[in-house]
Amino acid sequence: MAIRNIVTVGDLVLQKTCRPVTAIDQRILTLLDDMADTLYESGGVGLAAPQIGVLRRIAVIDIDEGLIELINPEIIASEGEQTDAEGCLSNPGKYGMVTRPNKVTVRAMNRDGEIFEMTGEGLLARAFCHEIDHLDGKMFMDLVTEWVETES
Ligand code: NI
Repeated sequence: MAIRNIVTVGDLVLQKTCRPVTAIDQRILTLLDDMADTLYESGGVGLAAPQIGVLRRIAVIDIDEGLIELINPEIIASEGEQTDAEGCLSNPGKYGMVTRPNKVTVRAMNRDGEIFEMTGEGLLARAFCHEIDHLDGKMFMDLVTEWVETES
């Protein structure tokens, strides 16, 4: 378990498409552990592997309801709409209004290699979208309709 360095905007790794995980080996398990450590250290809601320089389709999320590990996640259903302030650990101190679906269902693999589905609403739906975007080299700034003034 280790805290990894979070890369910030300008690092080209954030613009790349990540490769799927084909086998869950010790390296992937260590990566998951390190991502959780890094997320909790940062105080953020979610972290995607490219944010620590690893181009794999892995994200971790915790909206204060427990750790969710997503391997090869994909959105299989979404509905509704929500607009709220959003930020990113790779763009510290910046928050902007982003419209996302209000309810999102993802399908992903867990660390045991099992496929599961999970539906989130509100913040969790937003986190699913935000983190999965990272795996395709997309960042929230491109979706911001209005920047929000905050103290950082
Ligand atoms: Ni982010």
